Amino acid sequence: MNIKPIVKWAGGKRQLIDKLIEYMPQTYNAYFEPFIGGGALLFELMPKEATINDVNEELLSIYRCLASDDNFNFMIHDLEEHEKNHSEEYYYEIRELDRKSDFKTIPIWKRASRTIYLNKSCFNGLYRVNSNGYFNVPSGKKKKVQTYDKDNIKKLHEYFMNNHITILQGDFEDAVKSAKNGDFVYFDPPYDPLDGKESFTSYTKYNFSKEDQKRLADLFKTLSKKGIYVMLSNHNTAYINELYKDFNIHVVQAKRMINSDSSGRGNVEEVIITNY
Ligand SMILES: C[S@@+](CC[C@H](N)C(=O)[O-])C[C@H]1O[C@@H](n2cnc3c(N)ncnc32)[C@H](O)[C@@H]1O
Repeated sequence: MNIKPIVKWAGGKRQLIDKLIEYMPQTYNAYFEPFIGGGALLFELMPKEATINDVNEELLSIYRCLASDDNFNFMIHDLEEHEKNHSEEYYYEIRELDRKSDFKTIPIWKRASRTIYLNKSCFNGLYRVNSNGYFNVPSGKKKKVQTYDKDNIKKLHEYFMNNHITILQGDFEDAVKSAKNGDFVYFDPPYDPLDGKESFTSYTKYNFSKEDQKRLADLFKTLSKKGIYVMLSNHNTAYINELYKDFNIHVVQAKRMINSDSSGRGNVEEVIITNY
């Protein structure tokens, strides 16, 4: 059906798709993606049974709206309002909403449309928050903003409505609790920083630490013992190679698309790790 991610996301995997497909198992039962982000691989595969998860609530609100007729229609209507009202001043008005005490009480479709609108109109199309968890990307200074592609969003909505997709919000460990022998889990965590460089981890106010990478490697081992197919992508760092030394590590070249600063652009080595 050829559907594209709805948002541009730091660490998005569209440009690594061919490699991910090359290294994934040919057959599996249910699909799990605990760090869904923009969902590049999910939308390429479109599995009939999937569990998706991310710790970022604003991102998840979009997928929840795609999985409901009412919220989907309200969200589309609100996106049209954003397009009509768009200006520099309006951008900052919408951006500041998460600083208000009642932000968590606003309807899910409003939070979803805000996330999409900010993603399409901010500088570099990046979701980034400060240490308080407030969205802090400056405006992209666009005169006009197109927030969605009609055909694509309709296909996304149909995909969520017509398949068995469980949407979770929380930590990656909880997201795979129901995975069983024969299922397939793809982990795409925030990157371990390349030596001497900072890596983007500001998806939420909690940064992803070395301990989190270790916790993930332990989970990778636990799932492997259960007969679950597991694939993971990350930077090709000494730390990641050490954590996964008992598994198959494939080195691939990737083009860095978005980062917090332009010095992070260029080609970098990444790894695709599998337990099969
Ligand atoms: C590299 S991105 C995933 C990109 C995705 N594969 C794509 O194609 O767009 C990593 C994601 O992990 C999420 N994340 C960070 N810490 C997490 C945690 N502890 N549990 C679950 N998700 C987390 C971030 O919000 C971010 O969306």
